[in-house]
Amino acid sequence: MVTQDQVSKAISELLVPGVGRSLTDLNLLKSIEVADGKVTVTVANAAIGEGTQDWIRTKIATSVEKIADGLEITTEFVDAKPTDVNQVGKVIAIMSGKGGVGKSLITGLSAVALARQGKSVGILDADITGPSIPKMFGMKTRPISSKSGILPIISHLGIEVMSINLMLENEHDAVIWRGPVISGAIKQFWEEVLWGKLDYLLVDLPPGTADAPLTVMQTLPVNGVIIVSTPQELASMVVRKAVTMAQKLDKPVLGVVENMSYLEIPETGKRMELFGKSRGQEVADAANAPLLATLPLDPKLAALCDAGEVEKYSTPEFDAFSKAFTEIALKSLKSNHG
Ligand SMILES: Nc1ncnc2c1ncn2[C@@H]1O[C@H](COP(=O)(O)OP(=O)(O)O)[C@@H](O)[C@H]1O
Ligand SMILES: [Mg+2]
Repeated sequence: MVTQDQVSKAISELLVPGVGRSLTDLNLLKSIEVADGKVTVTVANAAIGEGTQDWIRTKIATSVEKIADGLEITTEFVDAKPTDVNQVGKVIAIMSGKGGVGKSLITGLSAVALARQGKSVGILDADITGPSIPKMFGMKTRPISSKSGILPIISHLGIEVMSINLMLENEHDAVIWRGPVISGAIKQFWEEVLWGKLDYLLVDLPPGTADAPLTVMQTLPVNGVIIVSTPQELASMVVRKAVTMAQKLDKPVLGVVENMSYLEIPETGKRMELFGKSRGQEVADAANAPLLATLPLDPKLAALCDAGEVEKYSTPEFDAFSKAFTEIALKSLKSNHG
């Protein structure tokens, strides 16, 4: 007779439409029973609409039929909320003192680094008034939602993304909301999105040290913070405020990234320090955290972002950043588990 494991394997190959991850990865598979000539599969009904339920039922029946020689196959749905099934390993927030320093880009690149290492990653775009994550991943699909939750959009590398930009009628629409509404939206992204099982959830925080980033840090169970800065004096000055804020909130700063550190002139290969001498180490010392990378201003990277192809980026500098970031992230995953 067919075993539970065989049924589980057959089902794990099904990808839930609209999100493209398996029932197992989404943590929706509650139980499989094989007894008395019957196979009963129980699925948590979180963020799944009726149409998708029917699809799942049919697909489970056809894939299990192939191995279950004549057994009766039933799929049962039990009501659930995303918060009942979500299992997020670590939440890492990406923070900067000011806007325009590449915080969103570093969030995207960090997710790419982890995904290339085979980790399951999600990005919660908490920059409600300046959302830029979907654009760099080339995402245009509207998320599917039902009364029990919202399905994230998935990238080519399998990175789950939720952003206010995905919900807007038109991606150019501006979001002019007041603080409480913004924090409500972020809370909703955390509680009502079916993230499923994730090793990491990266949060692209709003810039600065005002109310918005503060609420996010207090609303979400952030385990650690990555600070992004540029060599500009102003940037490194305000970044210190960000460091202070993280420390006040008891959130460990895992590392510092200096972005737009220099520009390499193509003809000569010379490095031009557009924003002045690097201050990355200084900021890292102030944060009492490692300097993970000093990344150049790279026109190729800007072009890939504009084309929605950030996942194709690959340079020796990025590889070095990936390695440093992944190591730090893995360490944070191992420590203080829970
Ligand atoms: N290292 C870099 N090389 C080239 N372009 C960059 C780099 N970092 C950021 N950019 C570009 O600069 C702009 C601002 O970056 P973004 O990540 O949106 O900043 P923030 O989130 O801090 O406001 C974007 O258009 C982005 O593609
Ligand atoms: Mg941004």
